[in-house]
Amino acid sequence: MDLAANPKVYGVVVLLILSFILGFLYRDNYSQAPLLLSAATVTAADAELHHKFPTKCAEAVPPAKVRETIIQNVFHGESPWTGFPPAHAKPLLLEKFAVGWGSNAAVFERLIRRVRPRTIIEVGTYLGASAIHMAGIAEKLGLEGVQILCIDDFRGWPAHADAGKVMEMVNGDTMLLYQFMQNVAAANATESVVYLPFSTTTAMNGLCSWGVYGDLVEIDADHEFHSAWVDINNGYRVVRKPGGVMFGHDYKWEGVRRAVHLFARLHGLGVRRDGEHWVLY
Ligand SMILES: C[S@@+](CC[C@H](N)C(=O)[O-])C[C@H]1O[C@@H](n2cnc3c(N)ncnc32)[C@H](O)[C@@H]1O
Repeated sequence: MDLAANPKVYGVVVLLILSFILGFLYRDNYSQAPLLLSAATVTAADAELHHKFPTKCAEAVPPAKVRETIIQNVFHGESPWTGFPPAHAKPLLLEKFAVGWGSNAAVFERLIRRVRPRTIIEVGTYLGASAIHMAGIAEKLGLEGVQILCIDDFRGWPAHADAGKVMEMVNGDTMLLYQFMQNVAAANATESVVYLPFSTTTAMNGLCSWGVYGDLVEIDADHEFHSAWVDINNGYRVVRKPGGVMFGHDYKWEGVRRAVHLFARLHGLGVRRDGEHWVLY
């Protein structure tokens, strides 16, 4: 057939050739690439990775230098309490609004009496209820120079503001950090409380790299298994050894319980229950 003499057929052939060339140029290279991994290559060592957290942290800074270390590394050397509350936040804050869960439980006083800590690391602080409670116990017992390091991203969780019912949202922000600060200020505890406003992992990596260890480390952030698992592993790195104690809230949550038990088994530790809390021995 004479293609030139039949423009329709000619057009179709040209289109076909063009589609072939375009298809070739933009072909899916990934489907051609060799498979790097398949299910068959997963080994027991892969599962092992879940248990492998770095264990070494920096040489311990003396307890008397802990507050200064945090202020230097987190707040460029200036105490976050200076000039608090800022004028724009003041009208939005409640004089005191420190709700929590099991925040005044007897375990705090029992452990503080037993360990007589200089540094307490709280992983999950919310509005500061348990931190303020611990600051009060330390004062009552006459412990000097105690620093409570509060780790929280101060985001709470979706809809936590509904649970609180009282705090104002400002452009979608629940003012959790400022209300926590206000609560600590109202309790006259700013000299013994300082905070790290980051994710628990980021904050504990910081403590580890600066050599900041806790005589007491309390785990009370997210309670799903994987979050609790990571917090417990990271938390244990910054427990002062020997002598430090790690404990946490919400033993009744299945995820927390599984993470605590797994950790204890892997590290040859015991677990005791103290009310709603767990304590590692
Ligand atoms: C149960 S509340 C802490 C209550 C507090 N210990 C008390 O008794 O008053 C949990 C807190 O953990 C914080 N949190 C949860 N997951 C976190 C994460 N991955 N990083 C930082 N903070 C987190 C939330 O913002 C929340 O304020």
